[in-house]
Amino acid sequence: MRNLSLKRKLRSLYIVTASGLGAYVAISLYKNNEKFYRNVVMPLVHLLEPEQAHRLGVIVSKYRLVPSTNYKDPESLKITLFNKVFPNPIGIAAGFDKHAEAVMGLKDIGFGFIEIGSVTPQPQPGNNKPRVFRLSEDLAVINRYGFNSDGHETVLHRLINLRQTKKCDTILGVNLGKNKTSDDAINDYVIGIKKLGPVADYLVINVSSPNTPGLRTMQDKNVLKNLLKSAKEARDSLPEGARPPLLLKLAPDLSYSELKDIANVVRQKDTKIDGLIICNTTVERPQFLHNDRKGETGGLSGKPLREASTKLIAEMYKLTRGEIPIIGVGGVFTGRDAYEKIKAGASVVQLYTSLVYEGPPVVAKIKRELVELLADDGFKNVSEAVGCSVK
Ligand SMILES: Cc1cc2nc3c(=O)[nH]c(=O)nc-3n(C[C@H](O)[C@H](O)[C@H](O)COP(=O)(O)O)c2cc1C
Ligand SMILES: *[C@@H]1O[C@H](CO)[C@@H](O)[C@H](O)[C@H]1NC(C)=O
Ligand SMILES: *[C@@H]1O[C@H](CO)[C@@H](O)[C@H](O)[C@H]1NC(C)=O
Ligand SMILES: *[C@@H]1O[C@H](CO)[C@@H](O)[C@H](O)[C@H]1NC(C)=O
Ligand SMILES: *[C@@H]1O[C@H](CO)[C@@H](O)[C@H](O)[C@H]1NC(C)=O
Repeated sequence: MRNLSLKRKLRSLYIVTASGLGAYVAISLYKNNEKFYRNVVMPLVHLLEPEQAHRLGVIVSKYRLVPSTNYKDPESLKITLFNKVFPNPIGIAAGFDKHAEAVMGLKDIGFGFIEIGSVTPQPQPGNNKPRVFRLSEDLAVINRYGFNSDGHETVLHRLINLRQTKKCDTILGVNLGKNKTSDDAINDYVIGIKKLGPVADYLVINVSSPNTPGLRTMQDKNVLKNLLKSAKEARDSLPEGARPPLLLKLAPDLSYSELKDIANVVRQKDTKIDGLIICNTTVERPQFLHNDRKGETGGLSGKPLREASTKLIAEMYKLTRGEIPIIGVGGVFTGRDAYEKIKAGASVVQLYTSLVYEGPPVVAKIKRELVELLADDGFKNVSEAVGCSVK
């Protein structure tokens, strides 16, 4: 039995390699053809195990083998946020490029900003494999990577190399995590802020991991206050010019009273943060999921998360009176999905799971569609549309 399955795997791998050659030629011809990717290239990639496919995606980006986009970002997609000009509002969410390996390729694909991480202080292996699952019928993914990370030191050197040697001027966020065995989460974040803050355009602290025992309790109000106070102090201790904005990423599985608490805390002077990322994967399993994998433990992302995420963005935008910029993420597959998050209060959006199902052309597709939707509604640019549906 083992042999048979090994044989089958080898055959799949052979098919992928052989198709790879053919596909490469075809890709050059059909460069960035969205349907071709969705219907041919990505299904071939999906003959691989999800984690191998992820690794392939990272390597292909690392060596810049992805077809670079020929879509030129128009003025209407430009947006200024955190005193930085984003060429377009579509970013890659945390978790794809956990260790800062794929930045140049992700830039080639057309992302307007890139979030690295989560990065933990010390390198750690994460959970046992398998730990990523595709739910294809649902256009979803379940992951329980559990913060596999190369650690601060390695990621710091990659980022310095990107900035200095490769002259990379892409907007780079760094998402900070904590070691699984660490009993002082706040200290792990503080170390991360001091170490990676100087090379980041923004920092994200992450307070809800269903996979990292103990992290959920962070959402307790006082714990959150202490965390934010310490994190801000660490950030403010950095030299001027190396003091990035500090963002908080929220889980979707929060009650309304928890949201109200969080909104209050993040608006108070001593715990005020610079932005929110809404939202992370969910531990909930909506009734409508089809795939048998829905029973796997972990965080669910992709299309099933879309509506809940947009609703949460609108709620937090209202609760914070639009005073705190929001990065919207969860189930963005189309220009309309992005537009809805922007209208609900997101200044920019991110995606991950749609890249798994549609490949690199999804980025240009979303941008093109978003430009049309903005024009249809008479908006000159993205910032004019931010929060317009909840005002
Ligand atoms: C395989 C995988 C790994 C992820 N790893 C991280 C992570 O390390 N840190 C983090 O903050 N979010 C992580 N996320 C969550 C994404 O950043 C994003 O919040 C979520 O997937 C919703 O967006 P999507 O529906 O476009 O995928 C991960 C998501 C996936 C699918
Ligand atoms: C977007 O348009 C507004 C006018 O409505 C303008 O003030 C702003 O500078 C524009 N933003 C960018 C980034 O061009
Ligand atoms: C931050 O979010 C990512 C996304 O899932 C996750 O992998 C990581 O565990 C989180 N880090 C922390 C410290 O919560
Ligand atoms: C995680 O990092 C902390 C530093 O904050 C360290 O004390 C701890 O030993 C690390 N854990 C592992 C497993 O490396
Ligand atoms: C998001 O959820 C994932 C798993 O679903 C977890 O690993 C990660 O720590 C969480 N990140 C944040 C920022 O909440």
